[in-house]
Amino acid sequence: MTSDLFHGFEPPAPRREDMAEGAVLLRGKALETEDELLGALAAIEEKAPFRHMVTPGGFVMSVAMTNCGEAGWVTDLSGYRYDRTDPLSGRCWPPMPAPFMSLAVEAATEAGYPDFRPDACLINRYEPGARLSLHQDKNERDFANPIVSVSLGLPAIFQFGGLKRTDPVRKYALHHGDVAVWGGPSRLFYHGIPALKEGVHPKAGAARINLTFRGAL
Ligand code: SIN
Ligand code: FE2
Repeated sequence: MTSDLFHGFEPPAPRREDMAEGAVLLRGKALETEDELLGALAAIEEKAPFRHMVTPGGFVMSVAMTNCGEAGWVTDLSGYRYDRTDPLSGRCWPPMPAPFMSLAVEAATEAGYPDFRPDACLINRYEPGARLSLHQDKNERDFANPIVSVSLGLPAIFQFGGLKRTDPVRKYALHHGDVAVWGGPSRLFYHGIPALKEGVHPKAGAARINLTFRGAL
């Protein structure tokens, strides 16, 4: 089943919006598999629960995180990095579920990156008030890989800037099912999410879930 809004009709074809050179927004791209994605997420959470990590500067992040795939993104007082093991359990991160992988590959292909095969998926959970300040994704080994970012649950504002922190940002409302892809000339663009607004989503409760697929290793 897709969103209740459609009352049994086929959902509209995903709409495509260009954000910058190399960066596109695929509206509704994840709707078709929303239940598989959320089901797979529930299984990941059982093995690798969401936790609030600490930045190298000693701040507790408002976004709760976990990972799946061969490697996971972690931060603690010693820095940001990818690690093959979950520091909470000392074991490997749960493997990347098939519906995650197919969505990431399909979205990347539609965006012009047909060779992308992610080895890491960082999973962010925002509760109302949580935010992610402007940053670049630059802990990955090979910037030839794009970032594929899937939004589920409550809506958020996505700030998408440029190569410098001070570049002007454009703002996009990201809704349940939207997929953003950035790579090529925009691979290292600054981006962030301002504080999430209160709300309850029928599928995800009082939270926004973001899956970001990366070529980390
Ligand atoms: C991120 O930059 O890792 C997450 C972006 C988002 O939550 O949409
Ligand atoms: Fe990011």
